Amino acid sequence: MDYKDLIASNLSRCTGLDKAQIEGLIEIPPKLELGDYAFPCFVLAKTLHKAPPVIANELKDSPELAEGFDGAVTVDTAGPYINFRIDKGILAKSVISEIIDEGDQYGNRNIGEGRNVIIEFSSPNIAKPFHVGHAFTTILGNSLSNIYSRLGYNVIRFNHLGDYGTQFGKLITAYRLWGDEQAMHDNPIDELTRIYVKFHDECKVSEEREKELEDTARDNFRKLEEGEEEEVALWKRFRDLSLEVFEKTYKRMGIKFDNYNGESFYSSRIPAVVEMLEDKGLLEESEGAKVVKLDDVGLPPCLVVKSDGTTIYASRDLAAVLYRHEEFNFYKNIYVVGLPQQLHFRQVFAVLKKAGYDFADDCVHVGFGLLKFKDNTAFSTRAGNIIKLDEFLDKATEKTAEIIRKNSELRGGDMTDEQIAQVSETVGLGAVTYTYLKAGREKDIFFDWDDMLDFEGDTAPYLIYTYARIKSILRKAADQGISGDIGPADKLTAEDEYAVIRSLADFKDSVVKAAESYEPFMISRQIALIARNFNRFYNNSRILNAENDEIRDARLKLCEAVADCIKSGLDMLGIGVVEKM
Ligand code: ARG
Repeated sequence: MDYKDLIASNLSRCTGLDKAQIEGLIEIPPKLELGDYAFPCFVLAKTLHKAPPVIANELKDSPELAEGFDGAVTVDTAGPYINFRIDKGILAKSVISEIIDEGDQYGNRNIGEGRNVIIEFSSPNIAKPFHVGHAFTTILGNSLSNIYSRLGYNVIRFNHLGDYGTQFGKLITAYRLWGDEQAMHDNPIDELTRIYVKFHDECKVSEEREKELEDTARDNFRKLEEGEEEEVALWKRFRDLSLEVFEKTYKRMGIKFDNYNGESFYSSRIPAVVEMLEDKGLLEESEGAKVVKLDDVGLPPCLVVKSDGTTIYASRDLAAVLYRHEEFNFYKNIYVVGLPQQLHFRQVFAVLKKAGYDFADDCVHVGFGLLKFKDNTAFSTRAGNIIKLDEFLDKATEKTAEIIRKNSELRGGDMTDEQIAQVSETVGLGAVTYTYLKAGREKDIFFDWDDMLDFEGDTAPYLIYTYARIKSILRKAADQGISGDIGPADKLTAEDEYAVIRSLADFKDSVVKAAESYEPFMISRQIALIARNFNRFYNNSRILNAENDEIRDARLKLCEAVADCIKSGLDMLGIGVVEKM
């Protein structure tokens, strides 16, 4: 039985308010003695023309409110609040059995009812290194995709590749002049970067040389736009080779996309967009360019066609959103892109709105901060400031392996090299992922290796370690022929046990809140709390040699529920677990 759900249904019936609205209003009282859930009656004051404390008192005594409570829930008031208290034993048993039933899918709901949600994330630029700067969008977007699909939405994962623009004219030119086949084959992105840099260096040689190169590049880009075979083939090759490299990293991180339509895909759709804006009388000439003025909504004009007639980033995004709506009739269209592009998205959404497309309101820009290195020596790179994501992940797993190896040696070397490598990959990648998701997304992250890998800190290693520790207890129990039992779970009413159960019960809400605010940290914070509560309980109570067999069996079930919930939460963040470490 989900008591919070029952309380919300009953309140909805008694007040006529929508159940979802009630769920949003229900609070967790600041003090335990006030009960488990509180409903503030302020919202009802206007319609009922009564003071909130009066309403609270009247509702409290309504028999309808108590339907199905069967003595498990007691109702009380404190001023304008109705407080609900769930019998600790009944709560323990119901929460644990719900989690055991749902296992590592605990927290799933069917709020989405299969509605389409597009989540665009990662979106690197082809022919350029995939660096740590792309990690945030990749990790955050993946987590949001997991969360939305666990809530019953049909998630379509888009990767809006940066695969279009005048730079491809330059790359084609550079490739013809200096491209090295073998290097292209061995390390395509490095080679493309090398020749791109060379193009710019060569432009500095003399004005004539610059003009010559720039002219050829412009010409090559024009040919590419016009669909000339050779240019298109080269561009396609750059794209395919880059994508191969990106996909290796995605695979390593366990990330998949449903759609790789990049900017190039939309370029053929731009003329229709320009025509539509023109027909609606929204396009204005400005210094030879075409713009949509947005001063009425307090934004600078959105540039749609440049003065030389070429289209730009914003027009490709307009074409993309129209396509997405046509194709998927989305319930939400989410862009996981850094905060520096906030203005761009505001402009795109405002243009849509002006053109009469109300689905502009269903488009959301989910911005995020930057990764900063606390200590600049934390990572030294060969090539300037760019830290490749793969090298960063390698370093994380190497450092994790050192710790895992040391711990294994302390236990007399109970892990093979292969086991150490496997565990370190999961834990190391998890540590990186968690670092990005453990605080509000708009905050900058101050990165530090020691913080990130602290097995006792607010880290993925700590959570995975807690999970593995529980698994080891359960294995030990199984070896002794003891399996837990849900029957006596209502005996788990001690303070430490209640804290664990309470935090497990609240996990479900944290998932919904994470989706609503696009903040996976609501989940990371909750599982961190569960793990801390569990470890306190574990340090203060005996499990396998508990005071009696009933308590032992119930505690084992509690352990199992905690492991399931941590696994479920970590999975939503995009982090795996290990059974042993
Ligand atoms: N490729 C761009 C970049 O790396 C991000 C694309 C963002 N998405 C979009 N629909 N504009 O900066």
